[in-house]
Amino acid sequence: MSLLSPRWGLRRSLLAIGPVLLIAPLLALKQHYSLPEPEISLFDARTGLPQISEARILGYAKYLSEDIGYRTVGTYEHALADDWMVEQAEAAKRHCESVVKASGRRLECEVWRQQGSGTHRFDMMSKRLYKSYQNLTNIIVRLSDGTPEGKAHALLLNSHLDSTLPSPGAADDAISVGIMLDCIRVLVDTPGWSPAHAVVFLFNHAEESLQDGSHLFSTQHPIAHTVRAVINLEAAGTTGRELLFQATSEEMVEAYSHVPRPFGTIFANDVFNSGVLLSDTDFRQFEEYLDVPGLDIAIVGNSYLYHMRKDLVENIEAGVAQNMGENTLALIRHLTAAGSALPTLKAGFAHKRMHMVYFGLMGRFFIYRFSTAKVLYGALFAGALALARGHAVGAGVRAVGTGILGSMLVPNLVALVMQRGLGKGMSWFAGGHFAAIGLYAPATLLGAMVSQLLVPATDEKAVFAAIVLLQAAAAFGIQLLNIGSAAAFFISGLPLFASLLLNNVALTTRRGEVSLWAYTLGQFLPLLTGTLIMVPTVEVFVPLTGRLGDVPADNIVASLIAFLGAQALPLAVPFAHRFGRQTLRRMVLVLAALTLANMALYARRDVFDAMHQKRLFVLHLENVTTHEHHLHIASADGAPGFHELVHDIMTEFAGLQTAIEPVVMDDYNSDWDSLYPFSAFLSPYKIELPKDASYASPWIAEGTGFSLEAVDDVTDLVAGTRSLTVKINHPGLIWTVIAFDAHVLQWNLDKNPPAEFARHHVKEASFYKADAWTLELVVRLPASGERGIGFNFIGLQEKAMWPAKRAVKEQGGPAMVLFERLDAWLDEKTGGTVDALLMGCVAGTAVV
Ligand SMILES: *[C@@H]1O[C@H](CO)[C@@H](O)[C@H](O)[C@H]1NC(C)=O
Ligand SMILES: [Zn+2]
Repeated sequence: MSLLSPRWGLRRSLLAIGPVLLIAPLLALKQHYSLPEPEISLFDARTGLPQISEARILGYAKYLSEDIGYRTVGTYEHALADDWMVEQAEAAKRHCESVVKASGRRLECEVWRQQGSGTHRFDMMSKRLYKSYQNLTNIIVRLSDGTPEGKAHALLLNSHLDSTLPSPGAADDAISVGIMLDCIRVLVDTPGWSPAHAVVFLFNHAEESLQDGSHLFSTQHPIAHTVRAVINLEAAGTTGRELLFQATSEEMVEAYSHVPRPFGTIFANDVFNSGVLLSDTDFRQFEEYLDVPGLDIAIVGNSYLYHMRKDLVENIEAGVAQNMGENTLALIRHLTAAGSALPTLKAGFAHKRMHMVYFGLMGRFFIYRFSTAKVLYGALFAGALALARGHAVGAGVRAVGTGILGSMLVPNLVALVMQRGLGKGMSWFAGGHFAAIGLYAPATLLGAMVSQLLVPATDEKAVFAAIVLLQAAAAFGIQLLNIGSAAAFFISGLPLFASLLLNNVALTTRRGEVSLWAYTLGQFLPLLTGTLIMVPTVEVFVPLTGRLGDVPADNIVASLIAFLGAQALPLAVPFAHRFGRQTLRRMVLVLAALTLANMALYARRDVFDAMHQKRLFVLHLENVTTHEHHLHIASADGAPGFHELVHDIMTEFAGLQTAIEPVVMDDYNSDWDSLYPFSAFLSPYKIELPKDASYASPWIAEGTGFSLEAVDDVTDLVAGTRSLTVKINHPGLIWTVIAFDAHVLQWNLDKNPPAEFARHHVKEASFYKADAWTLELVVRLPASGERGIGFNFIGLQEKAMWPAKRAVKEQGGPAMVLFERLDAWLDEKTGGTVDALLMGCVAGTAVV
């Protein structure tokens, strides 16, 4: 039986195990990319029962994102979407009532349009921030059995109708709006369906303005207190299976395990909770103000289009809506049925931490408690210890440790050379996650191999045993810290352990000999699960580097691939010791040549293309205090070529004659307050625009201009305080922001302003034409006796956002004239590889 023999050479061994091992990633990819067939008809032709219809869902998404368009909070289109949603909800209610009348079902459909104002603190990116909103709306539909008991405990479904500043938001989040509407239809049309517990559909109309709609519902709606759990539907991409990326109760994970196609891992949960993704959803408001557990689910594939102009229905992959719709429907049915855990979910939730491991693997969904995990992983660790006895484990551990170091170091060196050395950073960006893996995976393997030249030749079985031991130790140790992601080490440690055990018991006669079978069996599952973790992770992180600011993107992506790659291919290290030094040197040479060729090849690639665009941020800013007009440009990535692009734009559009320097971005750069605190990621440039003598500014007109003033202003010299109401009038401007320095003692934003002199940022978002707001302040008078407080204020012209307002460009003033030209010029100049967010801003300063 020659397969047992180590005398087979490298080539023959690879030929024997390679094809089998190739099956593992292929299986993983098949699972990762599988989506159901989209359904067109509303009813299943065989059973006659209603079914989720992708065609109908996408019809809604298309209406919202194209017929209405960019639904930015405060715009006319935002108000149109509000009207439309009320019509849809009323139509659903009428249909429901006719069904009930005909069948006598225990079913009641109720509709609310909530409108209200409020304030909340919304810290993000380690910045303290406040929101104030006026007259924002939500549309709510509740399905129940019509009884008080049936309404006492409700499941909340949430999606948002609005879209963000530069995006029509077909996936984010119109598709979820469509899914919720289609779920209502299917439930109402299902003969005999009557929920034991109510389901509340919240079509919230202000998420992108920093979660004002969900705050409004949670803090002010009369039925908010009945909510026991929430399912939030979101998108940060347009393709693939929707991902469960946050789960905060064991019962909700259990419910999720019943959906037709679960895709969620404790790993994604841990990554999201670590905050590295810098994203945030309405889920946060429900946690904070309703204090309920839930599931946060989002479409995440192809995140290049997230918050871009191309977030359109035509770019949503077929099957995405069907999949998300069917999963959502299953969750609603499960959680509203008699016997569901729903009524018990809220109690004690705040004190309970989720202690559950969960992941989907080849069509099965595994859930177990942390306590079980500790026993399992502990047992594996004990087994691994027993198996390691008698081997030179010390030498094995040293080899593996050096291997891990090498596999992290070499890709990072390649990253440094690419980004700093050659100036070819982010060369993989347009190619997506596979391109990134293509560059850094061979480098990782090279690192693992070359590092083995630095340790003494070691018995391959000792190295194998050391890997089993280290995987088991990692699983056990990390789980002891109550980090569920430890499962990744268990899932690869277990088959490694089993195959080594099998090897010892059945496959070999001589000590120190590892059968090729042991390699094949031991490596199969780690490769499969490794691919299942690596592909979606890199798929999320690669587009993220396009909006993270000027960071070492190549090193971030290289480290990620190195870490996950080493985890997917743990047996590379013992394999390096199988054939002796000579062969190892040959392997190293081949991999080194491959890595170098790769670098040469990638250095020639373009970073961006038409479907993987660069994000550009452009402001046309009119200052009502100084009467100057400026052009501001910034990018949110570290790709090469930006400075040159800005130079060309400035020369072409602002008559630039000198060199340009980036301006400082900090809390005092109020020019970018509309994007605060995301603005921290931008590297901005600024240049004054030539004056147009014929221009008469509408923003300085008495009474109808943009102004900030103090009213009810009372100074108490004895107490050393001053109380005032700051009034901001902003007709025609939306998303106003004020920033000021003061030692605030009291305000109407919350109960505990910082007890010191500090800079404050307050952002407003309101319904269309709600164009005034106030801030009530009591401040401590400074020792200097200087009473005035300096305010920066800024807003966006409702009619000067390109391309959202292309249809009414005549009303957008000089900003829109510039944007139309600039956008066409950019398209031509960059070959359509730039997506520019073009906003007309009006700003000023005032000491009051
Ligand atoms: C909000 O709506 C109410 C009622 O329609 C209206 O009286 C009020 O002026 C609105 N607020 C703003 C800031 O426009
Ligand atoms: Zn969203």
